[in-house]
Amino acid sequence: MAFPEGFLVGAAVAAHQVEGNNTKSDFWLMEQMEHTSYAEPSLLACDHYNRYEEDIRLAAGAGLNAFRFSIEWARVEPEPGVFDEAALDHYRSVIDCCRENGLEPIVTLFHFSSPAWLIRQGGWESPETPAAFARYVRHVAEGLGDRLNYVFTINEANLGAQIAGYIKLAANGDADGANIQMGLNLEERDEQADAMAREYQDLFGTTSPASFNTPRTDAGNRVIMEAHRRAREVLREVCPQARVGLTLSLHDLQTAEGGEDAEKEQWRIEFEQFRPAFEGDDVLGVQNYTRAIVGPDGMLPTERGARVTQMGYEYCPEAAARVVRRVASEFSGEILMTENGVATADDAERCEFIDRALPELEACAEDGIPLTGYCHWSLLDNFEWESGYRMQFGLVVVDRETMERTPKPSLAVLGAWARGVGDRE
Ligand code: BGC
Repeated sequence: MAFPEGFLVGAAVAAHQVEGNNTKSDFWLMEQMEHTSYAEPSLLACDHYNRYEEDIRLAAGAGLNAFRFSIEWARVEPEPGVFDEAALDHYRSVIDCCRENGLEPIVTLFHFSSPAWLIRQGGWESPETPAAFARYVRHVAEGLGDRLNYVFTINEANLGAQIAGYIKLAANGDADGANIQMGLNLEERDEQADAMAREYQDLFGTTSPASFNTPRTDAGNRVIMEAHRRAREVLREVCPQARVGLTLSLHDLQTAEGGEDAEKEQWRIEFEQFRPAFEGDDVLGVQNYTRAIVGPDGMLPTERGARVTQMGYEYCPEAAARVVRRVASEFSGEILMTENGVATADDAERCEFIDRALPELEACAEDGIPLTGYCHWSLLDNFEWESGYRMQFGLVVVDRETMERTPKPSLAVLGAWARGVGDRE
């Protein structure tokens, strides 16, 4: 068995998590607050903004053939309607560097962090946001679109919906079971709510800023979907050769006795309610990190004694292919696995994860599922949002003092899959 000709195997990063000094973004400000839910500020991150060539060469040298990264809205449009051409030139260089090194650039236009000004204008709950997003997307598309075959508009469009679901469970005292596939400290947010609200008021003019990683209302989900549709319209007009989609964070949901209705509801929250956005897209980005068992009241806590990752959820490499199969039965376009990975201090666990996940994904492709690529999260140990730098998702270690990169054995393991030799080497 082997992946079909042209199958993409790559690694993923996101701007705020690796670039460093994303000073115009909402997250930067929230990280710097006196009362903050962030374990630490991102600061220089992995200095990828300056070291992207080295990082791309590392990926290419291992045999990977794709690199997924995001363009930072706050850099490209630091003030509303004011565009920084140097930032766009930078991303043009990143794309060109990918091509020179034989990597397909897979670009995400929005990966969680927003320009601070957007949040001051109401953020991801404001009906004005889709127009603002479309303006930014037009600028990027006109500058870079001709170079791209894959553009994802919004990363994990369903993140806020998942967080809202978690908060509802927490209110019922059932939060243990909710595994959000992103580093969040919701308890800390709760404990310091009043002090944080005062700081938010000063920074954003509101006590509850609608950043992307906050619970979304139904109206907010409609804002996100509209932002995606407007962006897709622009991309189809400006760079019609690019395949366009969004990405979703999806659990491999399994049903415990009596959990049938709750499981259906969870899938509705994560997947089905976003159909008005992704229906008609060329490609859907699927992101999975674990499975979740759903009982009558929702997701159950991870079983006692289960093997867990640093994130606290179950170690489950087989979940990825199961989610891909489920999505394929409900979406007819191309599927790209845009994220999958494991936070662990023991790289042998990551090697095992890759060697268990990839054969199952190969089998998907063999069975005729239009799965065209796999991006491992992440190329680098990086800034895991509110969890800070303590989560180790990377194929490469980054020394936090010197920024020196050291590939882990898992980078070569993934490279072998990209070269079509997988675990047969
Ligand atoms: C996000 C990444 C994050 C990863 C690991 C995904 O939700 O897209 O930004 O680092 O999961 O938690």
